[in-house]
Amino acid sequence: MHSLVYRSVASESFTLSEIYKMLSDARDSNADHGITGCLLYHNNHFLQLLEGTKEEVLSLYNRIKKDPRHREVITLMEEPRSERIFDDWSMAFHDYGQNGSSSYIKMKQIDDFFAKSGAYEKPSKLAIPFFTNVREILFG
Ligand SMILES: Cc1cc2nc3c(=O)[nH]c(=O)nc-3n(C[C@H](O)[C@H](O)[C@H](O)COP(=O)(O)O)c2cc1C
Repeated sequence: MHSLVYRSVASESFTLSEIYKMLSDARDSNADHGITGCLLYHNNHFLQLLEGTKEEVLSLYNRIKKDPRHREVITLMEEPRSERIFDDWSMAFHDYGQNGSSSYIKMKQIDDFFAKSGAYEKPSKLAIPFFTNVREILFG
């Protein structure tokens, strides 16, 4: 098993409804290729965890990096791992913009911690505990 986390900046023209449409196609394709993970959207930024075989993860990441719907793609973490965090999700999604819920407040705290640590800008070991917490908050 291989895990990869990257961040990117969404293109101005990539609207939330288009993101949901992309996600629907992505989930079908991920299920076919044994990819799981989580995509977070916040302040025009994406943070995505990809999990699967090394070959499938890198092949998908190469396609994602060329996608014109986002830019400034930076790899934050890449490593072999024994277990998936989102083993039953072909791509979980959370939009931090849906505020007001308790999960939003908890996610915001984790996000602030992650941002303060500088983990959005440079490779970080914090990416795995971050997504483990995200899973706990979103799905219990
Ligand atoms: C932020 C972001 C996340 C994406 N996540 C996935 C994903 O998890 N799985 C997927 O198949 N495509 C994902 N895509 C879409 C790919 O970039 C690409 O459009 C898709 O794999 C189809 O590639 P193809 O046209 O070369 O076949 C994502 C795109 C963006 C911008």
